Amino acid sequence: MQPKTPSESRTIMTDMVLPSETNPLNNLFGGELLARMDRAASIAARRHSRRITVTASVNHVAFNRNVPLGSVVTVEAAISRAFRTSMEVFIDVWMEDRFTGERAKANEAIYTFVAVDDTGQPTEVPALQPETDIEKERYDAALRRKQLSLVLAGKMKPSEASELKALFTD
Ligand SMILES: CC(C)(COP(=O)(O)OP(=O)(O)OC[C@H]1O[C@@H](n2cnc3c(N)ncnc32)[C@H](O)[C@@H]1OP(=O)(O)O)[C@@H](O)C(=O)NCCC(=O)NCCS
Repeated sequence: MQPKTPSESRTIMTDMVLPSETNPLNNLFGGELLARMDRAASIAARRHSRRITVTASVNHVAFNRNVPLGSVVTVEAAISRAFRTSMEVFIDVWMEDRFTGERAKANEAIYTFVAVDDTGQPTEVPALQPETDIEKERYDAALRRKQLSLVLAGKMKPSEASELKALFTD
């Protein structure tokens, strides 16, 4: 399979925040943002693998800024690394200033998707070829995050997570 670049999977979804999607403080409800990120990430994973993809884990979510009612929100997802059957998807969330139109980073998240066949069995995906500095940085750190996620899920022994352990010993 030919490697693909992150730009081949990049998925950008822009939408606004409606009253039914807010919490009692009139800010975007966290679960609504998680769903928007999951949708964008799922499309990115499909574009990379051209397979059915399922969310395997949500590895990291940072709700750094609240997103007020009426905000225009852009969710941008792209594959940051592909393994054998799984893909790490990095999601950046941007908010647009209603007066200047300037974009500010609101939140980010990292999800793991697995490509599956028609019977739900994991199936191989193309490798990822990062191009820009930030894509290379995210690619390099993805193996540690995969190991951490597997250790937390009880699917890998901490003693086998060599790249993760190196973070604490080097
Ligand atoms: C995701 C799923 C296909 C993985 O199945 P599995 O039996 O664990 O399969 P494997 O052990 O072969 O793992 C497949 C890949 O997922 C990765 N993986 C599994 N669990 C993971 C986790 N918690 N974090 C990161 N990666 C994980 C494995 O490392 C492997 O990656 P690789 O092939 O690239 O090395 C299966 O658990 C599933 O179908 N889950 C339900 C998914 C779903 O319905 N999501 C929507 C939630 S409502």
